[in-house]
Amino acid sequence: MTMKIAINTGGGDAPGLNAAIRAATLAAHKRGWEVYGIKNGYGSIYTDEPFIKLDADMVRGITMQGGTILGTANRGNPFEMPYKKKDGTMDTKDVSEHLVQTFKDYGIDALIAIGGDGSMNIASKLIRKGINVVGVPKTIDNDIYGCDVTLGFDTAISIATEAIDRITTTAESHHRLMVVEVMGRYAGWIALYSGIAASADVILIPEIPFSYDSIVEKIKEREAKGRGYTMIVVAEGAIEKDGDIVTKGKKVGQQVQLGGIADRVANELSNRTGKESRTVVLGHLQRGGSPSTYDRLISLRFGAAAIRCVQEHDFNKLVVLQDNQLTRIPITSIEGKMKSISLDSDTVQTARDIGICLGD
Ligand code: F6P
Repeated sequence: MTMKIAINTGGGDAPGLNAAIRAATLAAHKRGWEVYGIKNGYGSIYTDEPFIKLDADMVRGITMQGGTILGTANRGNPFEMPYKKKDGTMDTKDVSEHLVQTFKDYGIDALIAIGGDGSMNIASKLIRKGINVVGVPKTIDNDIYGCDVTLGFDTAISIATEAIDRITTTAESHHRLMVVEVMGRYAGWIALYSGIAASADVILIPEIPFSYDSIVEKIKEREAKGRGYTMIVVAEGAIEKDGDIVTKGKKVGQQVQLGGIADRVANELSNRTGKESRTVVLGHLQRGGSPSTYDRLISLRFGAAAIRCVQEHDFNKLVVLQDNQLTRIPITSIEGKMKSISLDSDTVQTARDIGICLGD
C-alpha cells in the first residue's frame, strides 16, 4: 500500500538529524512511498507551503551535515503556539486542530516525529487526536526516558570533552580555577560523561545538589599536592544544596532558558579561595557541526527503523536502543517522564573511585 509520510524535526537541533531524515526518506522511497518534510517545525503549518517534498536527490550527501535541512523551532508546540495579540503582547493558543486538518488535506498517513521529550509530549497528544505517529529520539541532553541513548549525544560529549581538554592546559599554565558550563537541561549526562573523559577534578550535575564547602576542600587538597589549578565542569541545570536552578528567563510559548551557573560558581569559589577563576560556556558549540560516526549510524538506524514501524502499521511507538538492541516503546508511556542519571550507576561510581569531586 502506498503511504504518504510527514517528517518533523522539533525542538533544538542535534547532530544526526539529517542522517535520520535521509534514512527515513530513502527507506520510504524504496517502498514506493511519498515523503514530506515539515518546514521549521509545526509552526509552519499556517503557511501556504508547510511541506517540502523529499526525494533521494534532496537527501543526497546530508548524513555528515549538522543541523536539519527541514529547519526547526523551539516555539512550535501546536497546543501552545505563541502569537502576538492586538495590543502587542504575546500569548499562546491551541492550533492542533489546524494541524490535524492540514494532515488530512495533504493525505498524510503517518508522522515521523524526530524530537526530544517536548516533541514526544506533543506526539502523545497528537496520537490522542488520531494521528499515526512514530517517534525517533533526538537530543544532545540524552534525557529521553526509556532510551539508552539519543541521537546527538555522542557528538555533544565528544565536542565537550575536546573543549575541556583544551581548557585544562591553559588552566594549568595560569594556576586558575576554570569553570566550564555544558548543556543538558535538568540532567547531567553531558557534564558527567565529558567531565570524566576529560579528567575534570569537579563535576556538578543536577542529580547531585552541590555544596561549595565540598568543592573548596577539593581545591585545597589539590593545592596541597602542588596542583595550582582545578577544572570544574558544571551542568547548566546543576543546583546548590537548598538553592535554585539558574535561569535566563522564559519567553511565551518557549521553555525556560537555563544558563549562568558557571559565573555564579566561579565567583563564589574565587571569593572563598582567593584564587583567580575564569568561565567558559560551551553553549551551542555542543549542537553544531558534523555528527560523530556513532551518531551518523544510530541516526540512520533510527530513521530506517521508523519506516519499518510504519510498514508494519505499528504506530504510536518510539524507536529506541535498549541493551544495544533496537526496539519500540509506546510514546504515551513516557509522557511527562525524564531519564536522570542513577546515583548507583557504575559511571557515577567510577567518577568517585578515580577521585572526582561531585560536589556532595
Ligand atoms: O535540549 C537541547 C538544548 O541544547 C539544551 O541542552 C539547552 O538547554 C537548550 O536546548 C537550549 O535551547 P536554545 O537553542 O533554545 O537556546
